[in-house]
Amino acid sequence: MTLVGLAVGAVLAAVAIFIPWLPEPASREAGLIDNAYWLVTIICVAVFAVVAGVSVYAVWKFRAPPGDLEDGSPIHGHTGLEIAWTAIPIVLVLAIAIYSGVALAQAEDAPDDSRVIEISAQQFAWRFTYPGVEAQGQALSSGELVMQVDEPVEFQITSKDVIHSFWVPEFRMKQDAVQGITTRTVVTPTKLGTFPVICTELCGLGHPTMRAQARVVTAAGFERWVQEQRRLAAEGASAGGKELFTQQCGSCHVLADAGTQGEVGPNLDEGLQGQDEAFIRESILDPDAMIAEGFQPGVMPNNFGDSLSEEQISSLVEYLVEQTGGGG
Ligand code: CUA
Repeated sequence: MTLVGLAVGAVLAAVAIFIPWLPEPASREAGLIDNAYWLVTIICVAVFAVVAGVSVYAVWKFRAPPGDLEDGSPIHGHTGLEIAWTAIPIVLVLAIAIYSGVALAQAEDAPDDSRVIEISAQQFAWRFTYPGVEAQGQALSSGELVMQVDEPVEFQITSKDVIHSFWVPEFRMKQDAVQGITTRTVVTPTKLGTFPVICTELCGLGHPTMRAQARVVTAAGFERWVQEQRRLAAEGASAGGKELFTQQCGSCHVLADAGTQGEVGPNLDEGLQGQDEAFIRESILDPDAMIAEGFQPGVMPNNFGDSLSEEQISSLVEYLVEQTGGGG
C-alpha cells in the first residue's frame, strides 16, 4: 500500500509541477496573483503531505495483529496537540488572507494616468467603451478589446442582465459583471498579442460562446485602430434605415418597401401594422421579449444593441415606423 501510495504521489506531483497549468502571464498584475496561487498551493501540498504521512504511518505502526479483537486502550485529550492543531491552521489561514489582501490591493491600485475602459456584459456578448475617445459624437465602442501595451487600464464593469464574469487568463485579474452596480479591476498589459476574453460565470445557454478578443498593441497601433473605428463609424452612420434593413434584416423578414423576401421571421408587411416606435425598438434590441405567434424564441440574434450603433438603430427604427401604416 505504501509503495502504491508513493508511486501515485510521485506521478501526481510530476503532473502538478511539469504541466504548465497557467498560461504565460501578460500583465504587470499577473505576478501578484501567481504568487498568491503558489503560496496557497504550497501550503495545501504541505498540509496534505503531513496528514497523509501520519495516516499511513499510523496504519502501518499501530494496526491490530491478526486475531486481536480487543478494543484499543482508551485515550483522553492531549492539550499540547490540540493547541498545535488549532494554532497552526490559524497561522496558515491568516498568512493566506493577509498576503492575498495585500496582493489584491496592490494589483487594483490604478495609477492616476490609467485609461478607463467600460465593459458592458450581456447574454452573450461583450461591449468595450472608451470614454474620452470620440467617434461620431459618442464614446468609441467596440466588440473587441484593444489595449495599449504598458498602459494601465481601469475597467469599469457592469451587466445588462444576469451575472457574468470578465476574465483574460493571461492577465489573471478576474471580476464579476453585475447588473445595477459597477465593479472595477485594473490590468496593465505587458505583452503584445491577442488573448481570449472569457466569461467565467455560468450565465445561460450561450455561456460557453460568450467570448471576445483582447488585442494588445503599440501606442501607434492603438492610434491606427481608433482612426479605423472612426472611419467605420462614419460610414455606418451615413447608411440610411432602408439600406440597414436590407443588409441586417432582409434575409429573415419580408418587407415590400425594402424588397426583401426572408421567411425565417415574421412578415413585417403584416407584423408592423399598427405598432409603435417603442415596440419596434424592443423587437430589435430584445427580440425574445415578445414572440409573434407561430415563431420560436432564441432564433433572432439578440445582440443588435451591440453590433449596431445607437445612430444605426435609430435610423432603422425611424424607417420601420414609416412602414407601420401610420399606427405609430
Ligand atoms: Cu456570460 Cu457566462
